[in-house]
Amino acid sequence: MAKTRTEFLCRECGANHPKWQGKCPDCGAWDALERFTVEVEPKSGGNAPIWGAPVDSGEAEDLARMGIGKAVALGSVPEATVPRIPTGISEFDRVLGGGLVPGSVLLLGGDPGIGKSTLLMQAAASIAASGGVSLYASSEESPQQVRLRAERLSNVTAAGGLSALGERLLVLGETNVARISEQARRVRPTLVLIDSIQLVHRADISAAPGSLAQLRRCCLDLVALAKSTGCCVIMVGHVTKEGALAGPKLLEHLVDVVLGFEGDRHSAVRVVRGVKNRFGSTQEIGLFEMQGDGLAEVESVRTLLSGGPVAPGCAFVATMAGTRCLLGEIHALVATGFLGSAKRRASGLDSSRLAMLIAVLEKHGGLRLADQDVFAQSLGGLKIAEPAADLAAALAIAGAFLNRTLPDGTVAIGEVGLTGELRTVPHLEQRVHESLRRGARLVLVPASARIGGFGGEDRPMAEGRGDIVKVGTIARAIDFLAPSQRSVGGSSVPLAEPKPQGQGAPVRRGG
Ligand code: TYD
Ligand code: MG
Repeated sequence: MAKTRTEFLCRECGANHPKWQGKCPDCGAWDALERFTVEVEPKSGGNAPIWGAPVDSGEAEDLARMGIGKAVALGSVPEATVPRIPTGISEFDRVLGGGLVPGSVLLLGGDPGIGKSTLLMQAAASIAASGGVSLYASSEESPQQVRLRAERLSNVTAAGGLSALGERLLVLGETNVARISEQARRVRPTLVLIDSIQLVHRADISAAPGSLAQLRRCCLDLVALAKSTGCCVIMVGHVTKEGALAGPKLLEHLVDVVLGFEGDRHSAVRVVRGVKNRFGSTQEIGLFEMQGDGLAEVESVRTLLSGGPVAPGCAFVATMAGTRCLLGEIHALVATGFLGSAKRRASGLDSSRLAMLIAVLEKHGGLRLADQDVFAQSLGGLKIAEPAADLAAALAIAGAFLNRTLPDGTVAIGEVGLTGELRTVPHLEQRVHESLRRGARLVLVPASARIGGFGGEDRPMAEGRGDIVKVGTIARAIDFLAPSQRSVGGSSVPLAEPKPQGQGAPVRRGG
């Protein structure tokens, strides 16, 4: 029997320590060391070289040309093109940076029930439909359950059902990583899916599946499988209560791409985000909507400005997610609270910016909000953290307080400064363009904005049916709010206040 040695591995940073300690000396994490048994390789000869065997001169030359083993000019290293295998799901490909890279390993994390298995089955079916071979190794569900799900998916139906995919979409009910690898080497798939890494195990490690020791070794085995056969491996990873990927950070270091699948369990919108990507940007997001027949790709959370009268407390904003522009909807509610303990709650928005906006509205917009509870949220599960949404959020709050609405089809873009002035934001042209494309009739932009390429100053954009209006301060922007025709608490409250003139903001009272 092979000799073994006990080591302690840090769950947080992956450092190895010979004995247990309460605190990891490397990363400082408490109670993070886990026992790990390693086999000790029998010593071969006394003077064996530590790092690999000596290479012959021809091989050494080849390696040196690649920049391995001998320093060479970076410019002289031959260029490598990264081939891509498109998954056929364009939102997924966008996050991946154009498709899957052969021989790469991906980790997809997300809350239970968010749709990880659904997304991967769709990718598997899509690759099978385009001539590749997918192997779905399911350790969480039985092959029958996997089949039941796959039959419902829209792209399986579009491909002519499971029978049309035949031998190209394979399922394997197995938790032993050695047998998964063995099957993968036999069928030579383009894509191997492991659902999930927490449940696969190696028979020669006594630790339970999902433990640090098992995760590390199984992950290494799968990385070796990907690198040696050139197939692409996607592993599903569980997340902890806090939303971090369960298991060691180590797992994230071992793989090429880490993706997070997020979304509100109560809304159908799902977002796939790149956390780490060796082959592309992590700025991009993929948008999906969970439907009866699987995940559908969404071009934008809000594809159209909603028709009909808008309610007080609603405002639209054009927000950037990576290189794309999305239309977000912000809702606010202002209700009487207690002076000194007024509540301020933000969901999908930055709560510290919300507090700042309330203060600016109070000081420069003339709104008395000190004793008002303010709730603000971004609709549709879209998280908006950028300052460009300040103006829309401020107008939503002001509208809710004054019981006034923005004109139908208004998009507000701009950062609100502490002096109450509106400041321009990055990618303004793209935002304005997108707003008009989506049917905006009025786009409020900061006065300092420079919208070039559209005929210069203040002229409406050529293609737009909407107007672009430059606004200098938050007080001026509030003037765009018109008395609401909506009834509040049963009685209609038309609010006709004189328009503020001169300097300083007049005190405005809630409607
Ligand atoms: P699933 O992919 O199993 O989630 P995960 O693997 O992340 O745990 O599916 C999640 C949920 O999606 C499940 O509660 C049912 C729902 N769902 C649909 O609404 N429509 C569908 O077509 C499918 C397959 C699932
Ligand atoms: Mg699942």
